[in-house]
Amino acid sequence: MCTTVSNWSWRVILILVLLVLPFTDVALGLHITKVVVPTPVAVGDGGWLECEFVDQGQSIYSLKWYLGLDEFYRWTPAENPPIKTFHVKGDPLTVDRSSSHKGRVWIKDVTLGAAGVFRCEVSAEGPDFHTESEIGTMTVVDLPDEEPRITGTQDSYQMHEDVILNCSSPRAQPPASLSFYVNDEPADPLWLTPYHPKEDPETGLETAVLGLRFPLRPRLLRRGAAIVKCTAAILNIYWDSTEVFIPTDAPFHASIMEGQTAIGRGYPAAGSSLLTVLVLAILLLLLPH
Ligand SMILES: *[C@@H]1O[C@H](CO)[C@@H](O)[C@H](O)[C@H]1NC(C)=O
Repeated sequence: MCTTVSNWSWRVILILVLLVLPFTDVALGLHITKVVVPTPVAVGDGGWLECEFVDQGQSIYSLKWYLGLDEFYRWTPAENPPIKTFHVKGDPLTVDRSSSHKGRVWIKDVTLGAAGVFRCEVSAEGPDFHTESEIGTMTVVDLPDEEPRITGTQDSYQMHEDVILNCSSPRAQPPASLSFYVNDEPADPLWLTPYHPKEDPETGLETAVLGLRFPLRPRLLRRGAAIVKCTAAILNIYWDSTEVFIPTDAPFHASIMEGQTAIGRGYPAAGSSLLTVLVLAILLLLLPH
């Protein structure tokens, strides 16, 4: 009894597997194993698109690369030449045909329009033309035109006066992330005012702006001045920084400078005034009443 049921259920499973088998990817062999896109990439730069597959005995009819819905590269091993490239509206990238082979494609001269979803599609020969595809997303960065800039500095500051500055990193996409440091220490978050990036209506590029406001306390001074640094970063492909001096007003500045060198010169000065007092005292005592 038991053996009969078991035999019966095994037969059902076998039939189900045989029915499903033609529709599964695994059974057909063709399989994409790796899709890599370069990311992030700076405008004007390039990188390798990589699409690797195992055919497991199946003949490949074509491998295509798409950006969004647009096909821009096709490798058809049975044709001559095997590589074809297609123009995409707006020229978001250029394919270097001579260095490309199979699914490995060198793209260059990327623009912001090349940011998005890249799809590699591999098709087997007929009759079924079984097709597999995988995607990768590319980020394109338009680097800032100039190094970060600190504005709003005065020629001199009073002790305890508020230092109010801005740091900006001009025209980038995405906008740079800005950070302030005072004497190489990250600025207190309470000192910061984040502003919305300013967008250039023509290019769509954005200028990041970060405000800094802090009271000039004596502990922040090194030789009468504080140093404020601003750093700008975009993902892992851009980093730059700029520094300004925050000098205190002259009298304080002078006293700090002299404070450091007074020890050497101080004693003779103190000694001579003590001597003067002594001489005066003796003279007063000696003077007839
Ligand atoms: C800093 O930038 C903001 C936003 O652009 C502006 O409103 C503010 O006046 C600037 N402050 C200084 C000190 O430049």
